[in-house]
Amino acid sequence: MKILVTGGAGYIGSHAVRQLKRAGHQTVVLDNLVFGHAEFVSLDELITGDLSDTALLQKTFKENHFDAVMHFAAYAYVGESVENPAKYYRNNVASTLNLLEAMITHGVNRFIFSSTCATYGVPETVPITEDHPQQPINPYGMTKWMVEKILQDFDRAYGLKSVCLRYFNAAGADPDGGIGEDHSPETHLIPLVFDAALGRRPHITVFGTDYPTADGTCIRDYIHVTDLADAHVLALKYLSEHGRSEIFNLGNGRGFSVKEIIQAAEKNIGHNIPVQFGGRREGDPPVLIGSAEKAKKVLGWQPRLADLSVIIETAWRWHRHRFLK
Ligand SMILES: NC(=O)c1ccc[n+]([C@@H]2O[C@H](COP(=O)([O-])OP(=O)(O)OC[C@H]3O[C@@H](n4cnc5c(N)ncnc54)[C@H](O)[C@@H]3O)[C@@H](O)[C@H]2O)c1
Repeated sequence: MKILVTGGAGYIGSHAVRQLKRAGHQTVVLDNLVFGHAEFVSLDELITGDLSDTALLQKTFKENHFDAVMHFAAYAYVGESVENPAKYYRNNVASTLNLLEAMITHGVNRFIFSSTCATYGVPETVPITEDHPQQPINPYGMTKWMVEKILQDFDRAYGLKSVCLRYFNAAGADPDGGIGEDHSPETHLIPLVFDAALGRRPHITVFGTDYPTADGTCIRDYIHVTDLADAHVLALKYLSEHGRSEIFNLGNGRGFSVKEIIQAAEKNIGHNIPVQFGGRREGDPPVLIGSAEKAKKVLGWQPRLADLSVIIETAWRWHRHRFLK
């Protein structure tokens, strides 16, 4: 199949492009490179542009016969979304509408959407299943929740079929190298820990040590980015075979505390990493763990790189290669 991958020069999108190609699909990447890296994709498949450019969207859909769209492009900084919600509603909701309308105009009706566990807000129970109430506590989570709602209406009105994938914490890098996590600014724990290990920052700050968890630090569910990418290939297959909209969590059903991640990184690299302990950050739930049983059952998804040591090792290999000058 021929797939339009928005945000395909970013962290998760570039891994999805790789897995799509490995599965025999053809890809076209549309990315404005605000956060993406041109070197993560081959230049002959990259269209550099923004989803707010409706003329570019029309042209792109006219010149290509896409079988499906995978939509990774978004802004994803929770703190910034609180400070500047307009930027987030414009990019994550309004520009997504542009994309969906272009799809309808050109008769493309399969859509795979990067949603997030942030749509659940502070969970009432863990592990979180797909039917857990959605109560986002920040504008970023709201934008993703809104797109999920738009997709329900678009299915009813226009027959647009979608799979919403609610990711937990993406981590690691393709074991074959060449692509990995490089957000700027970086806010994700594992690359921040490795930055501290390489002396690219003085220390890693642990926000909060008095949470109701075994060691007092927050617990998160880490999923290898290649496993995440595999789930997209399966979601595409599901949409083609069943033509039914669905929602799936993608996590490993297991959580690790901030301290456990730091210890695993130290074990992997063989030396201590400078740590500073700070106060809690507002809006950080103590524990976020997702149940991906539905994805396993319905999509046949089986994570292959779920082991924390594999996640840490592939992330470290990439990080060292990328940043150790
Ligand atoms: N990283 C995670 O752990 C995580 C967790 C849950 C959900 N998500 C979602 O997954 C998706 C990908 O996340 P990521 O970590 O790869 O982020 P990323 O920033 O690396 O990738 C997003 C890409 O989209 C591009 N982009 C943004 N707005 C655009 C626009 N208007 N037009 C064209 N391109 C645009 C950026 O340049 C970037 O390359 C996002 O939608 C994010 O909300 C990520």
